[in-house]
Amino acid sequence: MKYAEEINKRKTFAIISHPDAGKTTLTEKFLLFGGAIQTAGAVKSNKIKKTATSDFMEIERQRGISVATSVMSFEYHGHLINLLDTPGHKDFAEDTYRTLTAVDSVILVIDSVNGVEEQTKRLTEVCRMRDTPIIVFVNKMDLEGRDSFDLLDEVENTLGIQVRPLSWPINKGKSFKGVYNLHEHQLNLFEANKTKVSTEVVSFDDLNDARLDDLIGSDADQLREDVELIEGVYEPLDPESYLKGQVAPVFFGSAVNNFGIKEMLDTFVSIAPTPLPRPSSKGPIDPYQKEFSGFIFKIHANLDPNHRDRIAFLRVCSGMFERNKFFHHTRLDKQFRFNNPYSFLAREKSVIDTAYPGDVIGLYDTGNFKIGDTLTDGDDFKFQGIPSFSPEIFREVINKDPMKSKQLDKGVRQLTDEGVAQLFIQQPGSKKIIGTVGELQFEVIKYRLNEEYGASCDLVSKSFYKACWITTTDEAQLDEFVRLKASEIAYDKDENPVFLAPSAWMLQMAQENYPKLTFHFTSEFKTAAQAES
Ligand code: G4P
Repeated sequence: MKYAEEINKRKTFAIISHPDAGKTTLTEKFLLFGGAIQTAGAVKSNKIKKTATSDFMEIERQRGISVATSVMSFEYHGHLINLLDTPGHKDFAEDTYRTLTAVDSVILVIDSVNGVEEQTKRLTEVCRMRDTPIIVFVNKMDLEGRDSFDLLDEVENTLGIQVRPLSWPINKGKSFKGVYNLHEHQLNLFEANKTKVSTEVVSFDDLNDARLDDLIGSDADQLREDVELIEGVYEPLDPESYLKGQVAPVFFGSAVNNFGIKEMLDTFVSIAPTPLPRPSSKGPIDPYQKEFSGFIFKIHANLDPNHRDRIAFLRVCSGMFERNKFFHHTRLDKQFRFNNPYSFLAREKSVIDTAYPGDVIGLYDTGNFKIGDTLTDGDDFKFQGIPSFSPEIFREVINKDPMKSKQLDKGVRQLTDEGVAQLFIQQPGSKKIIGTVGELQFEVIKYRLNEEYGASCDLVSKSFYKACWITTTDEAQLDEFVRLKASEIAYDKDENPVFLAPSAWMLQMAQENYPKLTFHFTSEFKTAAQAES
């Protein structure tokens, strides 16, 4: 197969949702459709029902054994689909944000009862930073959820993205009858079934056809009214606007009952983007260029203390990845080759010889990779758009055992390279401040430092509000700020100064007193000029 055909076959995406909306269930149904698994129940939920560390470590251990769950590839109607898994627990949101840098589009699952939830908002914001195309799936239509028009309004108003329904539910909850496919003009009648896929559809050239009344009785008139309203209010879907992340097509269904999914999957493969160019320090990198390039977006540690290797997940961005070929690690300026890179077709982890743009491969790593690292054929550049986000909780690492300070140092650096948490170094004294999104990571860090590095530490609370990366039009003003605010300045992994703002008010004061500085909650940002272009 020609190189361009290989790329055009691929669709790389993630399913995102607030916990419990149905991400795991939908993932499983996709794999069923793609023939990658045969029975329902094969995909284990990776969410942690209780937030106890022991539970988490147990799940991580299992996941470590079967890292295949991080990427699931399957074929569907001639397309090769790479579905990237995201953690279910909110404390691991940053892991999800990073995974989103490696996909070309997302499917956002919303629970019809709960509507748009906290995590839905944050994840959508991250997608919008990169204009990632979004398809919305309103799940759990078999429950007494909210009114469908109200849900669409809520999505538009709270997520700031225009919507366009492509399927429409007929009633809901106990009276849920099915969905009408607005695009194909087909009625798909609901039948609660967790193991079988409903395939029976009835086509309509005209919704006034009396067969509609025979099939759905008194709901027929409501459907006619709804469809008329939708066609009057919403513009037909413009695929270009979807690809620019401006309009999100919406589907309704019930993942657990296998319902409404096939319509969405068929539309997904027809409209979702093939591998897209990726921003880099030397401009966008075109996937069709022959020179290989890719970046690391996730590192998975082997939690078995006897096997300290890690798996670094690389998204191929251009050219062809080849086993045993030397590639250039641009941060370390070193050559590396990989004799057993993994792919994850049909959930089987298998050694591959080649990989193409859009693919995600697992590389054995003995500590050479950090999140965001770039590999190339020889060219020197760095992929961008893999930002760090301001943590929510900050703790200072205090060594409890002076004999083990080297181990502690190494452990903290390696765990933060993996992206478990962010490390900020504060002078004088190289104080280590760790920032996370949730409490659970601190427990994980303590546990792993102890188990894997034999180091013990106290993690002392620091009441910072946010970590703010700083840009300036006036270096002298930045120097002055860094000098005067020394106790609130720390340096991130790339040695950029970061303002650890004690409160929202202090941040506002800093902005007012230093008008030539701009404070950002992420480590990468559109400059004013980029935002305007
Ligand atoms: P998540 O990965 O987004 O956290 O959600 P997950 O798929 O685990 O689904 C959360 C719960 O919602 C599960 O129930 C799942 O069975 C249920 N669910 C998913 N889709 C639907 C749907 O269309 N309708 C209804 N009524 N429920 C749905 P659970 O009780 O937490 O787990 P389980 O014991 O059923 O596995």
